[in-house]
Amino acid sequence: MGTGDRPAGGSAAGADPPGGGGGGGAAGADRPGAGGGGEPAARPLDVGSFLAAHERKTLLRFITCGSVDDGKSTLIGRLLYESKLVLDDQLAALQEDSRRVGTQGGALDFALLVDGLQAEREQGITIDVAYRFFSTDRRTFIVADTPGHEQYTRNMVTGASTADLAVILVDARKGVLTQTRRHSFLVSLVGIRQVVLAVNKLDLVGYDHEVFEAIEAEYRALAGELGIAQVHCLPISALVGDNLTSPSPNTPWYDGPDLMTLLELAPVDDGAAAMPLRLPVQLVSRPSHDFRGFAGTVVGGRVRPGDRVVVLPSGVQSTVARVVTADGDLVEAEAGRAVTVTLADEVDVSRGDVICSADRPATVTDQVEAHLVWLAEQPMLPGRRYLLKLGTRIVNATVARPKYRVDVDTLDYLAASGLALNEIGVCNLSLDAPVALDPYADSRDMGGFVLVDRVTSATVAAGMVHFGLRRAENLRWQELLVDAEAHAALKGHRPAVLWLTGLSGAGKSTIANALERRLHARGVHTFLLDGDNLRHGLCRDLGFTAADRVENIRRAGEVCKLMAQAGLVVVAAFISPFRAERQMVRDLMGDLPFVEVFVDTPIDVAAERDPKGLYAKARRGELRNFTGIDSPYEPPESPEVRIDTTATTPEGAADALLAHLGTLL
Ligand code: ADX
Repeated sequence: MGTGDRPAGGSAAGADPPGGGGGGGAAGADRPGAGGGGEPAARPLDVGSFLAAHERKTLLRFITCGSVDDGKSTLIGRLLYESKLVLDDQLAALQEDSRRVGTQGGALDFALLVDGLQAEREQGITIDVAYRFFSTDRRTFIVADTPGHEQYTRNMVTGASTADLAVILVDARKGVLTQTRRHSFLVSLVGIRQVVLAVNKLDLVGYDHEVFEAIEAEYRALAGELGIAQVHCLPISALVGDNLTSPSPNTPWYDGPDLMTLLELAPVDDGAAAMPLRLPVQLVSRPSHDFRGFAGTVVGGRVRPGDRVVVLPSGVQSTVARVVTADGDLVEAEAGRAVTVTLADEVDVSRGDVICSADRPATVTDQVEAHLVWLAEQPMLPGRRYLLKLGTRIVNATVARPKYRVDVDTLDYLAASGLALNEIGVCNLSLDAPVALDPYADSRDMGGFVLVDRVTSATVAAGMVHFGLRRAENLRWQELLVDAEAHAALKGHRPAVLWLTGLSGAGKSTIANALERRLHARGVHTFLLDGDNLRHGLCRDLGFTAADRVENIRRAGEVCKLMAQAGLVVVAAFISPFRAERQMVRDLMGDLPFVEVFVDTPIDVAAERDPKGLYAKARRGELRNFTGIDSPYEPPESPEVRIDTTATTPEGAADALLAHLGTLL
């Protein structure tokens, strides 16, 4: 029988584990290709019913860290085998494979149990994290296994973000290595508080107690540095089976539990139950006029009828009236439970709000400091807006330039202007609306988030909140007595923004000038904001890297907004090469009319005109990051106005824009 005929590992094969039940921390929400996409379909096993069958047992999620050389596959294979849930035909195949291609001289090669699946997975689409399920009499397990190739950080953070415990493997002959530091740092970063350090291959060092003790001492020092609270060091040989499922006679000096016992007895309470009430609202349910309930999963503490609660971010207080479930009302629901709550008062609650204990509410803030793990090929650009999803809430977020990034191998802090794939940094984020949150260290659910690219909808980062920033707390929005409408009334026309985008030399400034002169002549109050000019003052500190252009447009957009609020018709001429930032400026304007004008000039024509001689310089290699040459330009997809400068004169273009504006002013 070929490997393709076998059901996959454990009992219920790799598949996406249920995200609910208080799980779904940082990156867990969007697991890239998690689970069994490439696994064989010979025996479809339903994870849901598997878990239901084992419902009365507690569930431990853990992650294994280490390379294949460390014996990780052998270790997982043995655990699956010893859990008696490797199915008979799978075992037959293992015997056959072991005889044929095993490395153990015909004896069972447990690595094949895992590696076989791996090979199968590799035939499928990209699988970054494999989840396997197994069960013993005492407990059900989900183990996340992350292949240790170059995408290591991304995969591990994804796999570990919901884990309660990590098994970190080291080779007894090599001890604590750079990769051990990396694994441990990532484990601590995603909030795993229990580590089993499995010192493997002890048979190869003659079960030497001193070797084990030296590694243990070194590792405990590292764990202390990283703040990992619970460490258990375990001498094993995955190959021989020492201390995996029973005490080994080969290590008489070790009298602690074996690995399976450790896994069976590890506490799974991650502190959520001890927290004050946190109930992020997923859905407002209104089946009839006289019932309005707020549905969601309790992620902290417990909720009972009569509890005094506060709805955040609004801060309105009320009292819990009922705790409703499909099986009837409850007198209490604790962390992990999905419920619908009704309140005693008619208060405004929407999806994304958090119902909290009134005595100990979450922090409400629109600025946070957080760790960010960058998961996307496209690097992070400070100043760009991303969607931030925290629990059930979604807001816009701008990431500031990182304070530092962490070298995951040395744990050194390095200077950084952005973050590339797999890089980890500490950044401030500013949000466009207040959010209720807790530090990630207290709650993965209330402090873990993801960032999503607004254009591609891809998950680009996993984040862990350190704290809300105070500076937001001390700022208020001051109401202006003379508001935008008053300004507009005095000027006798509405404000507007005309945003001209296009290559250097496309003709933006020329058209902008022609337009402004015509508007001015008609008595319209205008101002022309030109890229070159702004770069002489407000943006003097910026260059032409992608990050600097993002910041340039952010500032230009803010200035446009102020000028429009002052009642002016703003004509802006910036290359503004990225769709994301042009969209950002549009969003910034809110209800004010925003006209995106694509000054469309083919690059050959612009280079031919070359009014400032810059194309010539760029082609000689004397000017770097030049738009259209070695820096990208993303043309608008649906601009309000497109001007083909090969077919229109600047005055003709100004006419077209005036005509367009006529309907707006
Ligand atoms: S943007 O990309 O950030 O929107 P902006 O419109 O402010 O650019 O400035 C573009 C002007 O800077 C160009 O018109 C050109 O005169 C000048 N410039 C100098 N270096 C570059 C470069 N590397 N790429 C593009 N424009 C450059």
